[in-house]
Amino acid sequence: SAAEKDGFDWFMRKEIYEQPKAIGDTLLGRYDTDGALRLDELRMSEAELRRIDKIIIVACGTAFYAGLVAKYAIEHWTRIACEVELAHEFRYRDPIVNPNTLVVCISQSGETADSLMAVRHAAEQGAKVLAICNTNGSTIPRESDAVIYTHAGPEIGVASTKGFTTQLVACYLLGLYLAQVRGTLFGDEIARLMAELEEMPATLQRVLDESEPVLKLAGDFAEQPSVLFLGRHVGYPVALEGALKLKELAYIHAEGFAAGELKHGPIALVDDGLPVFVVVPPKGRDMLHDKVVSNIAEIRARGALTVVLAEEDDPEIEPLADVWIRLPKVSTLLQPVLATVPLQLFACELATRKGHDVDQPRNLAKSVTVE
Ligand code: G6P
Repeated sequence: SAAEKDGFDWFMRKEIYEQPKAIGDTLLGRYDTDGALRLDELRMSEAELRRIDKIIIVACGTAFYAGLVAKYAIEHWTRIACEVELAHEFRYRDPIVNPNTLVVCISQSGETADSLMAVRHAAEQGAKVLAICNTNGSTIPRESDAVIYTHAGPEIGVASTKGFTTQLVACYLLGLYLAQVRGTLFGDEIARLMAELEEMPATLQRVLDESEPVLKLAGDFAEQPSVLFLGRHVGYPVALEGALKLKELAYIHAEGFAAGELKHGPIALVDDGLPVFVVVPPKGRDMLHDKVVSNIAEIRARGALTVVLAEEDDPEIEPLADVWIRLPKVSTLLQPVLATVPLQLFACELATRKGHDVDQPRNLAKSVTVE
Protein backbone atom coordinates (compact mmCIF):
# COMPACT_ATOMS: atom_id res chain seq x y z
CA SER A 1 0.00 0.00 0.00
CA ALA A 2 0.93 3.67 -0.30
CA ALA A 3 1.33 3.87 3.49
CA GLU A 4 3.97 1.14 3.53
CA LYS A 5 5.77 3.11 0.87
CA ASP A 6 5.65 6.34 2.90
CA GLY A 7 3.80 8.02 0.04
CA PHE A 8 6.37 7.01 -2.61
CA ASP A 9 5.18 5.25 -5.78
CA TRP A 10 7.66 2.39 -5.37
CA PHE A 11 9.53 0.69 -2.57
CA MET A 12 12.63 1.23 -4.66
CA ARG A 13 12.19 4.99 -4.69
CA LYS A 14 11.51 4.98 -0.94
CA GLU A 15 14.67 2.94 -0.40
CA ILE A 16 16.72 5.32 -2.56
CA TYR A 17 15.62 8.20 -0.34
CA GLU A 18 16.33 6.18 2.81
CA GLN A 19 20.01 5.93 1.98
CA PRO A 20 21.27 8.81 4.15
CA LYS A 21 19.64 7.22 7.19
CA ALA A 22 20.72 3.69 6.19
CA ILE A 23 24.35 4.77 5.87
CA GLY A 24 24.15 6.51 9.23
CA ASP A 25 22.90 3.23 10.72
CA THR A 26 25.75 1.25 9.16
CA LEU A 27 28.20 3.65 10.81
CA LEU A 28 26.47 3.71 14.18
CA GLY A 29 28.69 2.77 17.11
CA ARG A 30 31.76 2.02 15.00
CA TYR A 31 33.85 4.96 15.97
CA ASP A 32 34.82 5.87 19.52
CA THR A 33 35.23 9.47 20.58
CA ASP A 34 38.83 8.55 21.42
CA GLY A 35 39.44 8.03 17.70
CA ALA A 36 39.49 4.22 17.52
CA LEU A 37 37.49 2.33 14.95
CA ARG A 38 35.67 -0.72 16.34
CA LEU A 39 34.61 -3.82 14.48
CA ASP A 40 34.10 -6.24 17.36
CA GLU A 41 31.91 -8.55 15.31
CA LEU A 42 34.96 -9.63 13.28
CA ARG A 43 35.76 -11.99 16.17
CA MET A 44 39.39 -12.26 15.11
CA SER A 45 42.33 -11.43 17.32
CA GLU A 46 44.70 -8.67 16.24
CA ALA A 47 47.32 -11.37 15.66
CA GLU A 48 44.96 -13.19 13.30
CA LEU A 49 44.11 -9.96 11.52
CA ARG A 50 47.79 -9.23 11.02
CA ARG A 51 48.35 -12.67 9.52
CA ILE A 52 45.83 -12.19 6.69
CA ASP A 53 47.84 -12.23 3.47
CA LYS A 54 45.04 -12.20 0.93
CA ILE A 55 41.42 -11.11 0.76
CA ILE A 56 39.00 -12.63 -1.73
CA ILE A 57 35.62 -10.96 -2.07
CA VAL A 58 32.83 -13.11 -3.52
CA ALA A 59 29.35 -11.86 -4.43
CA CYS A 60 26.75 -11.66 -7.21
CA GLY A 61 24.96 -8.83 -8.98
CA THR A 62 25.03 -5.43 -7.35
CA ALA A 63 26.89 -6.82 -4.31
CA PHE A 64 29.70 -7.86 -6.66
CA TYR A 65 30.06 -4.25 -7.79
CA ALA A 66 30.35 -3.18 -4.14
CA GLY A 67 33.20 -5.69 -3.95
CA LEU A 68 34.90 -4.16 -6.98
CA VAL A 69 34.89 -0.76 -5.27
CA ALA A 70 36.15 -2.32 -2.03
CA LYS A 71 39.21 -3.74 -3.76
CA TYR A 72 40.53 -0.26 -4.57
CA ALA A 73 40.02 0.95 -1.00
CA ILE A 74 41.29 -2.18 0.78
CA GLU A 75 44.46 -2.51 -1.26
CA HIS A 76 45.22 1.20 -1.02
CA TRP A 77 44.66 1.42 2.73
CA THR A 78 45.93 -1.97 3.91
CA ARG A 79 48.37 -3.18 1.23
CA ILE A 80 46.70 -6.61 1.47
CA ALA A 81 46.18 -8.15 -1.97
CA CYS A 82 42.45 -8.24 -2.66
CA GLU A 83 40.70 -10.18 -5.40
CA VAL A 84 37.04 -9.89 -6.28
CA GLU A 85 35.20 -12.68 -7.98
CA LEU A 86 31.68 -13.59 -8.96
CA ALA A 87 30.64 -16.24 -6.44
CA HIS A 88 29.55 -18.75 -9.09
CA GLU A 89 32.91 -18.45 -10.87
CA PHE A 90 34.91 -18.78 -7.65
CA ARG A 91 32.94 -21.87 -6.72
CA TYR A 92 33.70 -23.85 -9.85
CA ARG A 93 37.36 -23.19 -10.37
CA ASP A 94 40.24 -24.13 -8.14
CA PRO A 95 40.95 -20.94 -6.18
CA ILE A 96 44.07 -20.63 -4.05
CA VAL A 97 42.78 -20.32 -0.52
CA ASN A 98 44.50 -21.06 2.79
CA PRO A 99 43.99 -20.33 6.51
CA ASN A 100 45.54 -16.86 6.09
CA THR A 101 43.06 -15.96 3.37
CA LEU A 102 40.08 -13.86 4.41
CA VAL A 103 37.11 -14.56 2.18
CA VAL A 104 34.50 -11.81 2.33
CA CYS A 105 31.05 -12.66 1.04
CA ILE A 106 28.85 -9.64 0.32
CA SER A 107 25.13 -10.40 0.17
CA GLN A 108 22.17 -8.18 0.97
CA SER A 109 19.78 -11.09 1.53
CA GLY A 110 22.25 -13.60 2.89
CA GLU A 111 20.37 -16.25 0.91
CA THR A 112 21.85 -16.13 -2.59
CA ALA A 113 22.66 -19.76 -3.43
CA ASP A 114 25.68 -18.96 -5.60
CA SER A 115 27.21 -16.87 -2.81
CA LEU A 116 26.43 -19.49 -0.16
CA MET A 117 28.14 -22.19 -2.22
CA ALA A 118 31.22 -19.97 -2.49
CA VAL A 119 31.23 -19.52 1.30
CA ARG A 120 31.10 -23.29 1.81
CA HIS A 121 33.80 -23.84 -0.77
CA ALA A 122 36.09 -21.34 1.01
CA ALA A 123 35.35 -22.73 4.48
CA GLU A 124 36.12 -26.28 3.34
CA GLN A 125 39.57 -25.08 2.38
CA GLY A 126 40.23 -23.53 5.75
CA ALA A 127 39.75 -19.85 4.90
CA LYS A 128 38.22 -17.48 7.43
CA VAL A 129 34.89 -16.29 6.07
CA LEU A 130 33.40 -12.89 6.83
CA ALA A 131 29.89 -12.02 5.64
CA ILE A 132 28.78 -8.47 4.89
CA CYS A 133 25.04 -8.82 5.01
CA ASN A 134 21.81 -6.91 5.60
CA THR A 135 19.58 -9.70 6.85
CA ASN A 136 19.91 -10.79 10.45
CA GLY A 137 20.22 -14.51 10.99
CA SER A 138 20.17 -15.41 7.29
CA THR A 139 22.05 -18.43 5.97
CA ILE A 140 25.29 -16.83 4.74
CA PRO A 141 26.12 -15.10 8.05
CA ARG A 142 25.15 -18.27 9.94
CA GLU A 143 27.65 -20.28 7.93
CA SER A 144 30.40 -17.65 8.15
CA ASP A 145 32.96 -17.16 10.91
CA ALA A 146 31.93 -13.55 11.40
CA VAL A 147 29.47 -11.00 10.05
CA ILE A 148 29.27 -7.25 9.65
CA TYR A 149 25.60 -6.32 9.36
CA THR A 150 24.83 -3.28 7.25
CA HIS A 151 21.67 -2.34 9.22
CA ALA A 152 20.01 -0.78 6.16
CA GLY A 153 16.56 -2.05 7.16
CA PRO A 154 14.45 -4.33 4.94
CA GLU A 155 15.01 -3.88 1.21
CA ILE A 156 11.85 -4.76 -0.73
CA GLY A 157 12.55 -3.46 -4.23
CA VAL A 158 14.15 -6.24 -6.26
CA ALA A 159 16.91 -3.95 -7.51
CA SER A 160 19.32 -3.24 -4.69
CA THR A 161 19.85 0.41 -3.68
CA LYS A 162 20.40 1.07 0.02
CA GLY A 163 21.75 -2.48 0.18
CA PHE A 164 24.55 -1.42 -2.16
CA THR A 165 25.54 1.90 -0.60
CA THR A 166 25.59 0.40 2.88
CA GLN A 167 27.72 -2.48 1.58
CA LEU A 168 30.17 0.15 0.35
CA VAL A 169 30.26 1.76 3.79
CA ALA A 170 30.75 -1.61 5.51
CA CYS A 171 33.65 -2.36 3.15
CA TYR A 172 35.23 1.03 3.92
CA LEU A 173 34.92 0.26 7.64
CA LEU A 174 36.56 -3.11 7.13
CA GLY A 175 39.42 -1.56 5.14
CA LEU A 176 40.00 1.23 7.64
CA TYR A 177 39.82 -1.18 10.57
CA LEU A 178 42.42 -3.47 9.01
CA ALA A 179 44.59 -0.42 8.31
CA GLN A 180 44.28 0.62 11.96
CA VAL A 181 45.20 -2.84 13.28
CA ARG A 182 48.06 -3.32 10.84
CA GLY A 183 49.33 0.24 11.07
CA THR A 184 49.21 0.89 7.32
CA LEU A 185 47.50 4.28 7.69
CA PHE A 186 48.31 7.03 10.17
CA GLY A 187 45.66 7.64 12.81
CA ASP A 188 44.95 11.13 11.51
CA GLU A 189 44.33 9.76 8.02
CA ILE A 190 41.82 7.26 9.42
CA ALA A 191 40.22 10.07 11.42
CA ARG A 192 39.94 12.24 8.30
CA LEU A 193 38.25 9.46 6.30
CA MET A 194 35.95 8.58 9.20
CA ALA A 195 34.93 12.23 9.47
CA GLU A 196 34.02 12.20 5.78
CA LEU A 197 32.04 9.00 6.25
CA GLU A 198 30.21 10.44 9.22
CA GLU A 199 29.33 13.47 7.06
CA MET A 200 28.13 11.15 4.29
CA PRO A 201 24.45 11.01 5.31
CA ALA A 202 24.26 14.82 5.05
CA THR A 203 26.34 14.90 1.87
CA LEU A 204 24.16 12.28 0.23
CA GLN A 205 21.02 14.12 1.33
CA ARG A 206 22.29 17.04 -0.71
CA VAL A 207 22.61 14.81 -3.78
CA LEU A 208 19.01 13.66 -3.29
CA ASP A 209 17.75 17.20 -2.78
CA GLU A 210 19.33 18.26 -6.06
CA SER A 211 18.17 15.31 -8.15
CA GLU A 212 15.67 17.20 -10.34
CA PRO A 213 17.93 17.27 -13.44
CA VAL A 214 18.35 13.49 -13.44
CA LEU A 215 14.59 12.93 -13.16
CA LYS A 216 13.99 15.28 -16.08
CA LEU A 217 16.66 13.48 -18.08
CA ALA A 218 14.77 10.21 -17.64
CA GLY A 219 11.87 11.78 -19.51
CA ASP A 220 14.13 12.91 -22.33
CA PHE A 221 15.78 9.50 -22.67
CA ALA A 222 12.69 7.28 -22.43
CA GLU A 223 12.90 6.28 -26.11
CA GLN A 224 16.65 5.64 -26.26
CA PRO A 225 17.46 2.07 -27.35
CA SER A 226 20.91 1.97 -25.78
CA VAL A 227 22.93 3.83 -23.14
CA LEU A 228 26.61 3.58 -22.23
CA PHE A 229 28.30 4.26 -18.89
CA LEU A 230 31.99 5.05 -18.48
CA GLY A 231 34.07 5.24 -15.36
CA ARG A 232 37.60 4.74 -14.21
CA HIS A 233 39.13 3.50 -10.93
CA VAL A 234 36.25 3.30 -8.41
CA GLY A 235 34.06 5.03 -10.99
CA TYR A 236 34.28 1.91 -13.14
CA PRO A 237 32.12 -0.28 -10.86
CA VAL A 238 29.75 2.70 -10.57
CA ALA A 239 29.41 2.64 -14.37
CA LEU A 240 28.71 -1.12 -14.25
CA GLU A 241 26.07 -0.58 -11.58
CA GLY A 242 24.44 2.27 -13.53
CA ALA A 243 24.18 0.02 -16.57
CA LEU A 244 22.85 -2.92 -14.55
CA LYS A 245 20.08 -0.80 -13.04
CA LEU A 246 18.97 0.34 -16.48
CA LYS A 247 18.85 -3.22 -17.81
CA GLU A 248 17.03 -4.54 -14.74
CA LEU A 249 14.39 -1.84 -14.51
CA ALA A 250 13.97 -0.17 -17.89
CA TYR A 251 14.86 -3.19 -20.09
CA ILE A 252 17.15 -0.95 -22.10
CA HIS A 253 20.41 -2.20 -23.51
CA ALA A 254 23.09 -0.63 -21.34
CA GLU A 255 26.77 -1.30 -20.86
CA GLY A 256 29.39 -0.07 -18.48
CA PHE A 257 33.00 0.27 -19.57
CA ALA A 258 36.29 1.24 -17.98
CA ALA A 259 37.00 4.64 -19.52
CA GLY A 260 40.58 3.65 -20.34
CA GLU A 261 39.23 0.82 -22.45
CA LEU A 262 37.27 3.19 -24.70
CA LYS A 263 39.95 3.39 -27.35
CA HIS A 264 40.33 -0.40 -27.34
CA GLY A 265 36.83 -1.00 -28.67
CA PRO A 266 33.78 0.69 -27.20
CA ILE A 267 34.47 3.99 -28.97
CA ALA A 268 33.34 2.25 -32.16
CA LEU A 269 29.82 2.23 -30.68
CA VAL A 270 29.75 6.00 -30.25
CA ASP A 271 27.54 7.65 -32.81
CA ASP A 272 25.35 10.74 -33.16
CA GLY A 273 23.00 11.08 -30.22
CA LEU A 274 24.17 8.06 -28.20
CA PRO A 275 23.72 8.87 -24.51
CA VAL A 276 26.89 8.26 -22.50
CA PHE A 277 27.08 8.73 -18.75
CA VAL A 278 30.59 9.47 -17.52
CA VAL A 279 31.70 9.34 -13.89
CA VAL A 280 34.59 11.79 -13.39
CA PRO A 281 36.99 11.23 -10.46
CA PRO A 282 37.68 14.19 -8.20
CA LYS A 283 40.66 16.29 -9.23
CA GLY A 284 43.57 14.86 -7.26
CA ARG A 285 47.26 14.19 -7.34
CA ASP A 286 46.91 11.47 -9.95
CA MET A 287 45.99 12.03 -13.59
CA LEU A 288 42.69 10.15 -13.46
CA HIS A 289 40.52 13.22 -13.59
CA ASP A 290 42.23 14.69 -16.64
CA LYS A 291 42.22 11.40 -18.50
CA VAL A 292 38.49 10.94 -18.04
CA VAL A 293 37.87 14.57 -19.03
CA SER A 294 39.72 13.95 -22.29
CA ASN A 295 37.61 10.81 -22.85
CA ILE A 296 34.53 13.03 -22.64
CA ALA A 297 35.97 15.33 -25.30
CA GLU A 298 36.67 12.30 -27.53
CA ILE A 299 33.17 10.87 -27.37
CA ARG A 300 31.56 14.27 -27.69
CA ALA A 301 33.52 14.94 -30.86
CA ARG A 302 31.89 11.77 -32.22
CA GLY A 303 28.37 12.95 -31.45
CA ALA A 304 27.72 11.41 -28.02
CA LEU A 305 25.22 13.06 -25.73
CA THR A 306 27.25 13.39 -22.56
CA VAL A 307 25.80 13.14 -19.08
CA VAL A 308 28.66 13.92 -16.74
CA LEU A 309 28.76 13.12 -13.03
CA ALA A 310 31.50 15.35 -11.65
CA GLU A 311 32.35 17.56 -8.70
CA GLU A 312 30.14 20.61 -8.48
CA ASP A 313 32.96 23.15 -8.82
CA ASP A 314 34.95 21.40 -11.54
CA PRO A 315 35.81 24.14 -14.05
CA GLU A 316 36.43 21.74 -16.94
CA ILE A 317 33.00 20.17 -17.12
CA GLU A 318 30.70 22.94 -18.36
CA PRO A 319 31.91 23.00 -22.00
CA LEU A 320 31.91 19.18 -22.29
CA ALA A 321 28.66 18.17 -20.64
CA ASP A 322 25.25 18.18 -22.28
CA VAL A 323 24.00 17.49 -18.77
CA TRP A 324 26.10 17.94 -15.66
CA ILE A 325 25.11 16.04 -12.54
CA ARG A 326 26.91 17.87 -9.78
CA LEU A 327 28.43 15.86 -6.96
CA PRO A 328 29.66 17.24 -3.64
CA LYS A 329 33.41 17.07 -2.97
CA VAL A 330 34.63 13.89 -1.29
CA SER A 331 37.73 11.68 -1.34
CA THR A 332 38.10 9.67 -4.54
CA LEU A 333 37.62 6.30 -2.83
CA LEU A 334 34.35 7.42 -1.24
CA GLN A 335 32.84 9.00 -4.36
CA PRO A 336 30.93 5.85 -5.44
CA VAL A 337 28.45 6.35 -2.59
CA LEU A 338 27.45 9.70 -4.08
CA ALA A 339 27.82 8.91 -7.79
CA THR A 340 25.65 5.77 -7.72
CA VAL A 341 22.55 7.44 -6.33
CA PRO A 342 21.66 9.65 -9.35
CA LEU A 343 22.04 6.53 -11.53
CA GLN A 344 19.59 4.62 -9.30
CA LEU A 345 17.11 7.49 -9.57
CA PHE A 346 17.59 7.73 -13.31
CA ALA A 347 16.78 4.03 -13.83
CA CYS A 348 13.85 4.13 -11.41
CA GLU A 349 12.36 7.19 -13.11
CA LEU A 350 12.92 5.93 -16.65
CA ALA A 351 11.27 2.60 -15.84
CA THR A 352 8.37 4.42 -14.21
CA ARG A 353 7.86 6.55 -17.32
CA LYS A 354 7.89 3.45 -19.48
CA GLY A 355 5.16 1.96 -17.31
CA HIS A 356 7.21 -0.92 -15.92
CA ASP A 357 6.82 -2.47 -12.50
CA VAL A 358 9.89 -1.02 -10.81
CA ASP A 359 9.67 -3.11 -7.65
CA GLN A 360 9.17 -6.41 -9.49
CA PRO A 361 11.06 -6.34 -12.80
CA ARG A 362 10.28 -9.15 -15.20
CA ASN A 363 12.27 -12.39 -14.84
CA LEU A 364 14.16 -11.25 -11.72
CA ALA A 365 13.96 -12.35 -8.10
CA LYS A 366 14.98 -10.44 -4.99
CA SER A 367 17.09 -13.30 -3.84
CA VAL A 368 18.08 -16.14 -6.10
CA THR A 369 18.04 -19.22 -3.92
CA VAL A 370 18.86 -21.72 -6.66
CA GLU A 371 22.23 -22.18 -8.32
C1 G6P B 1 19.58 -10.84 -7.32
C2 G6P B 1 18.99 -9.44 -7.21
C3 G6P B 1 20.10 -8.38 -7.26
C4 G6P B 1 21.16 -8.69 -6.23
C5 G6P B 1 21.73 -10.10 -6.38
C6 G6P B 1 22.60 -10.49 -5.21
O1 G6P B 1 20.06 -11.04 -8.62
O2 G6P B 1 18.05 -9.20 -8.23
O3 G6P B 1 19.55 -7.08 -7.01
O4 G6P B 1 22.20 -7.75 -6.34
O5 G6P B 1 20.66 -11.04 -6.41
O6 G6P B 1 21.80 -10.56 -4.06
P1 G6P B 1 22.35 -10.58 -2.60
O7 G6P B 1 21.14 -10.70 -1.72
O8 G6P B 1 23.25 -11.78 -2.48
O9 G6P B 1 23.08 -9.31 -2.36
